[in-house]
Amino acid sequence: MRICHVIGARPNFMKAAPVVRALSAYPVEQFIVHTGQHYDFNMSDVFFQQLDMPDPDVNLQVGSGSHAQQTAQIMLHFEPVVLERKPDLVVVYGDVNSTVAAALVCSKLMVRIAHVEAGLRSFDRSMPEEINRLLVDHTSDVLFTPSEDGNRNLAREGVGPERVFFVGNVMIDTLVKMMPEADRRFSSNLPARYALVTLHRPSNVDDLDWLASLLLKLEQVGHELEVIFPVHPRTRQRISNLGIIPSRNGHIRFLEPLPYLEFLGLQKHATVVVTDSGGIQEEATFLGVPCLTVRENTERPVTVTLGTNVLVGRDVTRLADELSGVLTQSKRQGGIPPLWDGHAGERIAKVIVGDRRGGV
Ligand code: UD1
Repeated sequence: MRICHVIGARPNFMKAAPVVRALSAYPVEQFIVHTGQHYDFNMSDVFFQQLDMPDPDVNLQVGSGSHAQQTAQIMLHFEPVVLERKPDLVVVYGDVNSTVAAALVCSKLMVRIAHVEAGLRSFDRSMPEEINRLLVDHTSDVLFTPSEDGNRNLAREGVGPERVFFVGNVMIDTLVKMMPEADRRFSSNLPARYALVTLHRPSNVDDLDWLASLLLKLEQVGHELEVIFPVHPRTRQRISNLGIIPSRNGHIRFLEPLPYLEFLGLQKHATVVVTDSGGIQEEATFLGVPCLTVRENTERPVTVTLGTNVLVGRDVTRLADELSGVLTQSKRQGGIPPLWDGHAGERIAKVIVGDRRGGV
């Protein structure tokens, strides 16, 4: 059996690593295609080094562009790879443009597709990722869900249950495996209490008035709590459009995007995380760190119902209130969702190779 993994953007890398590793225990042939959606060293190469992932066999080098340009370029460059290498199965991850582009190519070529992180829904179609999730799930042959809400969403949309496997969260596999190394690298010359901030969604950073009000609020927070903000390239560009030089601004400590291990260490020890990322909501839940999500909705509802996540929406007053709540109250005790146990990759590999030993 020949298996192709398609990855392209930062959050794909830590999801693919455990699946590639688990499959390597079986007599299958694997190859990795990197679309080149993310191409900076800090957004891509460093993850391969730290996650001990095999280097990509093919890099499509598509780079940035509008959604249509990026998706179309990936499709154009990926189709010949599929035709030449003839995989039996293509595994796609998450909800980025690389995921949907690869799934569309394979569905037209009648090549089987497995989707890791299937079934998540924010029910907000203004989010490009929601469109990607819908299209990928409805073109996939095998769907691996990280939480049971994913199974319910897929059932409601008419996806046959025989194709859907609740396997748990592959991102947590990587977290569990890498945490000892992240602990070793964690620098102790950080303040005892700090807020860790990440923002990159168009809904937060492309509206410059809103971005300015968020930064102003974080600057005020910075008077009582150190604010550490590794800045995504898109966000850096928008911040400089506001006339702010990210490295020199007042109470917020702006950093370059961080490698996986350094970010994980910072997250584990943070007093609170403020984010609009999907994966960070999950990691914070697993780590028991309070998480304030600057979005109106989440496709990861278990992080709110079971975990430490609170949606603060587009409301700086609510953000400030929740932040002072975190500082004054004892830590919110969240639970860990079922099957977020470090073994999702192995369960996925078993399904893919048809290994029925010990169940799925
Ligand atoms: C993409 C995903 C998003 C994910 C995020 C994680 C889609 C639709 N969005 O968003 O779901 O949460 O990745 O980071 O796929 N850029 C660089 N260097 C890079 C990559 C990007 O400078 O290595 C800049 C470019 O100016 C680019 C912009 O960042 O135009 C946005 O990159 P893009 O891949 O289009 O989307 P992300 O915002 O990263």
